[in-house]
Amino acid sequence: MDYEVAGTLIDEGRLARRVAELGKAISVDYNGRELIVIGILRGAVIFMADLVRAIDDNVDVSMDFISVSSYGDSTKSSGVVRINKDLDNSIKDKDVLIVEDIVDTGLTLSYLRRVLMEREPKSLAICSLLDKKERRIADISVDYVGFDIPDLFVVGYGLDYAERWRNLRSVHSVEPTVEA
Ligand code: IMP
Repeated sequence: MDYEVAGTLIDEGRLARRVAELGKAISVDYNGRELIVIGILRGAVIFMADLVRAIDDNVDVSMDFISVSSYGDSTKSSGVVRINKDLDNSIKDKDVLIVEDIVDTGLTLSYLRRVLMEREPKSLAICSLLDKKERRIADISVDYVGFDIPDLFVVGYGLDYAERWRNLRSVHSVEPTVEA
């Protein structure tokens, strides 16, 4: 089945306002501290680029990236996750914030949190732009959430369907293409 972009779920203005609020909250919570912000490739890249610039300079921010893939097809998470690209730097005794585009079943983040906790960070928090709570399977608490959304497949602002539409400036739902 092929898909096409449907309506706008969250427009650019709402995204920008919410990212600014998240940045403020993180700036307060980590005031005067060092913070390693870890982006999960590739969906979180655009959100993370905006988020780190919304964190005030009272926080000493550095960035690192990890790439994971879930076995299974592109619209479902299997819970079996493989690290394709690991972090470049140690997180031992560091304050760490994982930045994700969307939490769906929560299986990916729950695996990743377990793996990263074994590296003994001082603290580990999670920030996700979107949260599809209805679909949660794994018990994972997300410390900073941009928007709760219904059970729809969404694209744009970094999120893709089969690598397409990451560059859209707003978050949209997708729908099956109706054959002529
Ligand atoms: P989880 O393990 O089920 O929580 O899956 C999380 C990952 O699935 C996200 O990082 C996305 O890569 C992908 N994903 C889940 N829902 C969507 C969606 O609506 N649009 C795009 N990617 C999604």
